[in-house]
Amino acid sequence: MTEADLYTLYKGVYVPTCVHPPQSLQYYEEFTFRPDDILIVTYPKSGTTWMQEIVPLIMSGGDPASVETLPNWDRVPWLEEQRACILNLEERPSPRMFATHFHNNMMPPSFFKVKPKVIYVMRNPKDVFTSSFHYYGMTSFLVKPGPQSEFLCKFLDGQVMFGSWFDHVKGWLNAENKDHILYISYEELIMDLKDSVARISQFLEKSLDAEVIDKIADRCLFKNMKQNNMSNYSAVPREFMDQTKSEFLRKGIIGDWKNQLTVAEAEHFDAVYKDKMKNVKYKFVWD
Ligand code: A3P
Repeated sequence: MTEADLYTLYKGVYVPTCVHPPQSLQYYEEFTFRPDDILIVTYPKSGTTWMQEIVPLIMSGGDPASVETLPNWDRVPWLEEQRACILNLEERPSPRMFATHFHNNMMPPSFFKVKPKVIYVMRNPKDVFTSSFHYYGMTSFLVKPGPQSEFLCKFLDGQVMFGSWFDHVKGWLNAENKDHILYISYEELIMDLKDSVARISQFLEKSLDAEVIDKIADRCLFKNMKQNNMSNYSAVPREFMDQTKSEFLRKGIIGDWKNQLTVAEAEHFDAVYKDKMKNVKYKFVWD
């Protein structure tokens, strides 16, 4: 199936229609934020699920009840997904936790007025590409990736769900008001998970003992999250996500692009990256 069959073009980017039908996009458009809402923002495959585990554990002071009983999409729902409309989010007590893959310029008016707390997670785009290639191959609601070289062209050109990685990252790095945004990378989480949990809890103004931080970090290790049926997408029927083709929690490492891209593809990627990111001052861990 093609982009025209599976995707809706919303504010210039493709979104998979069955997950984001028009009424969900309208729901988000009209959504009213609260100042103490916590919003996890990511380009897909950058560590969303990981953060959907870390943040609830921080906010519960390490109590695992919610991560053991609620699937990640209900405990930290995507505001642009169809489920958001039926979860009665208006009734949820503060502080509420949400996720979104929207670009900064796609955010609804209430976001800019209220300025909820944002945790923006970034990941080396070559690893995002690699993770996406496997993910697109195992889902039924995304256009099949086709040969890797073709998917690479589409990815670099932003002709994939949620558009261009470059525009997404640049848009959020250039957000007008950054006081309410914590920028953190997948790589920092991998390199020092305890320190990352401590940084996130500080940003969320949740003071935690070192012992609790250790426990949260341990729960959020790849091998442990992989066992959590509320976070490993095992509850999604095989007709939507066929995890016999590729698991959702697939490898969870830095640098898998080296096993995926040819030397020529990696060089081409670097050239496009250099050009598109030339005016960005932010010091990425992977540069
Ligand atoms: P890989 O496909 O490279 O393994 P998202 O949740 O944004 O869709 O991102 C999914 C990616 O995050 C997958 O990457 C997945 O394995 C990785 N991931 C999820 N939880 C993780 C964890 N606890 N540790 C490391 N990587 C994790």
